[in-house]
Amino acid sequence: MATKRADIDPQQTPASLDECRRCALWEHATQAVPGNGPRHAPIMIVGEQPGDQEDLQGKPFVGPAGAMLDRALEEAGVARKEVYVTNAVKHFKWEPRGKRRLHKTPAQREIDACHYWLDRETGDVAPKVIVALGSTALKSVLRDSKATLQASMGHALEHEGHAIVATYHPSFALRAPDPETRERAYKAIVEALRDAHRLVARHRK
Ligand code: URA
Repeated sequence: MATKRADIDPQQTPASLDECRRCALWEHATQAVPGNGPRHAPIMIVGEQPGDQEDLQGKPFVGPAGAMLDRALEEAGVARKEVYVTNAVKHFKWEPRGKRRLHKTPAQREIDACHYWLDRETGDVAPKVIVALGSTALKSVLRDSKATLQASMGHALEHEGHAIVATYHPSFALRAPDPETRERAYKAIVEALRDAHRLVARHRK
């Protein structure tokens, strides 16, 4: 894990993700969590922000939401080597609840500050298809703070040369109060990953 330095000028272009002070989230996070996956993966999956486990391990989607994502990828027939996984926001935002650290949704200014890193990753990986998991990811990917899942799900969008597929966040499929909603959300995630796979195959023809 990188040392947390408080003496970095927030006005300076950060030399690395660990030195990023573009917003204040670094202060209470263990470390920044970069994306993970092959450099030229055809599919980029964007989540919201690291959770408790991701913050501790320094890798995206390694906690319960990650386990669900892995299951959905397998069910959709998408190989791990096809996907680069990252988040709209690279530091864990949380509030204390007893001994636990409870996830807090990032603010629009934090999403905006982190565009710098998502843009760099998108440029480096150059994915054909971006799958946005949940509304924070969708807003970030489309750079539209008013974007909604409801208006964007079920059909691929086009944005800056990438096909965009929007779906629920796995945490919603894990935590929705009733089992029918959880099942419907999980199936929608699998279907979105299948769509992404089809779009990549179509692109190769
Ligand atoms: N939720 C996310 O959005 N991203 C992660 O990396 C883990 C949980």
